Amino acid sequence: MSRRVYLDHNASTPVHPDVVAEMLPFFSETFGNPSSVHGFGREARDGMDQARARMAAFMRTSPDELVFTSGGTESDNLAIKGVAYAAKRGHLITSKIEHHAVLRTCQWLETQGFAVTYLDVDEYGMVDPDDVKHAMRPDTIAISIMHANSEVGTIQPIAAIGALARERGVPLHVDAVQTFGKVPIDVDAMGISLLSASSHKIYGPKGVALLWIRKGTRMVSVQHGGEHERRRRAGTENVAGIVGFGKALEIRGRDMAAEATRLTALRDRLWDGIRAAVPDVKLNGHPTERLPGTANLSYRNVESESIVLGLDLKGVGVSAGSACTSGSVEPSYVLVAMGVSLDWAMGAVRHSLGRSTTAEDIDYVVASVEPIVRRLREKMPVTA
Ligand SMILES: Cc1ncc(COP(=O)(O)O)c(C=O)c1O
Repeated sequence: MSRRVYLDHNASTPVHPDVVAEMLPFFSETFGNPSSVHGFGREARDGMDQARARMAAFMRTSPDELVFTSGGTESDNLAIKGVAYAAKRGHLITSKIEHHAVLRTCQWLETQGFAVTYLDVDEYGMVDPDDVKHAMRPDTIAISIMHANSEVGTIQPIAAIGALARERGVPLHVDAVQTFGKVPIDVDAMGISLLSASSHKIYGPKGVALLWIRKGTRMVSVQHGGEHERRRRAGTENVAGIVGFGKALEIRGRDMAAEATRLTALRDRLWDGIRAAVPDVKLNGHPTERLPGTANLSYRNVESESIVLGLDLKGVGVSAGSACTSGSVEPSYVLVAMGVSLDWAMGAVRHSLGRSTTAEDIDYVVASVEPIVRRLREKMPVTA
């Protein structure tokens, strides 16, 4: 079998073997419903409570403030709709580069009578806290800004935005799906009221996530049924998933700093290697304020999907920054918001590194990409 290199960790990660081991008993041994009062139920609840306590300790918050959900998407929906519905009407502030779980929720709220400001970002994909300040209105009910963008990895100045939010008494929701367990987050120092995080980005299972809700935040539930999660999210909890998420976070807590240093060096090795080997390539995203393992590179006048397919044939998994929708190639809305011109935006490829990535993997990708881009450019029609 030839070499296989997975560089799409921002999309999902393999479940850590220790996480699998911790989860296994919760499928068929400790299988009770955590809401049941008998011993079977209590054992399941104990497992879930332990995970909740572990996660609260990691975040230095109270376990009561954590609500488990089915994914980052649900956490974002619950945070934004929950606050909006509690206020009944008003204005929200977000940015143009949020994940669709935030953007489409905000767009839907507009159809329900809420007003939304979508902030611009600069060339690095950074939100300016001054823009947040100027967008504030007397009826602003929430701000939702992601911690790091999944495509380009730019890390937002959350503490400065949080200070503004706190000054005005407006809750700040932060989609931290790409940063939780990867870079330090201090919800108090950063002025955060609600925070979304997802398990499958940090070597935990898919389909489980959390929404941290600061005590005193006015919000309502959007999914009704039983009394689960202190009546903030109805539905029998995904016990095995929650236990796995707790274990995954415990592991991240141990290796987060060392892994960030290691991935930053590998990410820079990739960029240095590619720019030395391939002409007309540029880095998208902030040069330094960026996720440790993320390198989004644009090859001018080459379609990114062709590069992704070329690399796939070499056993390398990366993702395209442009998407083919109904026959025509569309550039990424994140890159468009950053002002990246079409000739560059069409050729954007995201590499996201993780636990298994080695220096040899990086060198293999660098060696593989050069001939792919060269051949694609040779085939290209000559343009003026
Ligand atoms: C920034 C961000 N928010 C939300 C999500 C959605 O999370 P999930 O896949 O757990 O629904 C993702 C997933 O890629 C993401 O990157």
